[in-house]
Amino acid sequence: MRVYLTTPIYYVNATPHIGHAYTTIATDILARHHRQRGHETFFLTGTDEHGTNIPRVAAEAGLDVKAFVDRNAAAFREMTERVNASNDFFIRTTDPRHEAAVQEFVQRIYDAGEIYEDVYAGLYCPRCEAFYTEAELVDGKCPVHGIVPEYVEEKNWFFRLSAYQERLLDLYDRNPEFVLPRFRYNEARSFIEQGLDDISVSRASEQWGVPVPWDPGQTVYVWVDALINYWSALAFAREGEDLRPVLWPEVRHLLAKDILKFHCVIWPALLLAAGLDVPRQLFVHGYLLFGEQKMSKSLGNVIDPLDLIDVYGADPVRFYVVREVQFGQDGNVSIDGVHERYERELGNDLGNLVSRTTAMIARYRDGRLPAATVAGAGGDQLAGLGDDVAQQLESFDITGALERIWKQVRSLNALVEERKPWELAKDDSGAAALDGTLYELADGLRAVAVVLAPYLPETAPRILESLNQPLDLSWEGVASGKAVPVEGIKPAAPLFPRVEAPSAAA
Ligand code: MSP
Repeated sequence: MRVYLTTPIYYVNATPHIGHAYTTIATDILARHHRQRGHETFFLTGTDEHGTNIPRVAAEAGLDVKAFVDRNAAAFREMTERVNASNDFFIRTTDPRHEAAVQEFVQRIYDAGEIYEDVYAGLYCPRCEAFYTEAELVDGKCPVHGIVPEYVEEKNWFFRLSAYQERLLDLYDRNPEFVLPRFRYNEARSFIEQGLDDISVSRASEQWGVPVPWDPGQTVYVWVDALINYWSALAFAREGEDLRPVLWPEVRHLLAKDILKFHCVIWPALLLAAGLDVPRQLFVHGYLLFGEQKMSKSLGNVIDPLDLIDVYGADPVRFYVVREVQFGQDGNVSIDGVHERYERELGNDLGNLVSRTTAMIARYRDGRLPAATVAGAGGDQLAGLGDDVAQQLESFDITGALERIWKQVRSLNALVEERKPWELAKDDSGAAALDGTLYELADGLRAVAVVLAPYLPETAPRILESLNQPLDLSWEGVASGKAVPVEGIKPAAPLFPRVEAPSAAA
């Protein structure tokens, strides 16, 4: 199986906040999971660096445009690294190789007769880099940014999007899982059903962009330029190799609902026009809200993921965002919430279980984990875990899969309470039961570490290390009885040491 996963490429008009980190983290969890299962996986993220907004914001910052995009692209790259994303490449749309691919792509569509010249007159939100009709505005303002759109009138090149309505509807009807979750599929499909207008794919007044190859006085509309990254990157992401024939169209795009129309409607139509295959699947997630509002730089209500990572580490932040908000829905996040889950779930449920298990093996068995001799009284504790999680992650249910794993963590804790190893240790009659219990706990924790590794890539190996188990994260490990007999297990240091509560730290 081949899996090509993408995040949107983020605008460099601002610096990253936790909303951007969210999509990157979610995509990374899927990428790590697929790699674990031996699937050929490629994970792409990057930055969107053209558009009318950028020169203006650069000027406001008193910087030359290139210096400005370099600086902010570096901030996104840093965010990507700090959340521990395992991306295979980081694309920047100012990369000349991407720019050349954009020209080639639009030329194909032009040659196919799907682009024509006309006069555009209408309303444009430079923050969205999108055109709006009067009806779409709220009190005359952009529905996303609440600013009055600019009236634009110029000669543009237009793409015959309207001609793709039937083909798009057919595509949706043949692939009921083309867009997930289902309510987003319905939203995209009904948008297409209402009828599509042709779209402007060039700007006459903007220099900061990719020149239209047959009319170099104009630049390619930033959204067309940006969408093409998913295709262009494959040509040069790996030195000396063209991955396009290998990975296209095995692509799964992840994005939030703000850019559904571009990805679920315009992008497949552009691909069809260029004679290319449409993406395999798209997953549209919701918004992380802060104080019930969409977090965004322009609203000034952002959480900086790097500040949180400085305090809690990358794993707890990764864990929090996908656990707190059902992936696909909107949900509130807060710094107190991060702290609370850090203490209660990571510290108590998981961290303490590792501490207790290793401490009991050290104390009652002198650090020795015997081979599995006693079948657990409760049957196979781990039955179904691997299949359940794999199935949920295949349908992008990152939150559901994590809850399934947490159920396992809770049942291991329950096992300690039930079997009471400290009582079994009192005399020899409990020896076999004690061996069996300690084995089940260590083996269960080992399997949990493997299945959790995509979520907690730093913590998982530490769990295996504390149990002196091989650092093998392959999927076969998500099953019972794979813990190997070892010696020298010592009481583990806390995985999630105490952190000052945010109010105290502030
Ligand atoms: N540059 C375009 C995307 C081009 S893709 C070909 C863009 N950039 S953006 O910087 O505005 O990023 C939008 C994306 O960032 C969202 O679709 C989502 O993936 C992520 N998010 C930004 N804020 C978010 C939240 N508050 N909540 C959830 N996701 C958020 O649009």
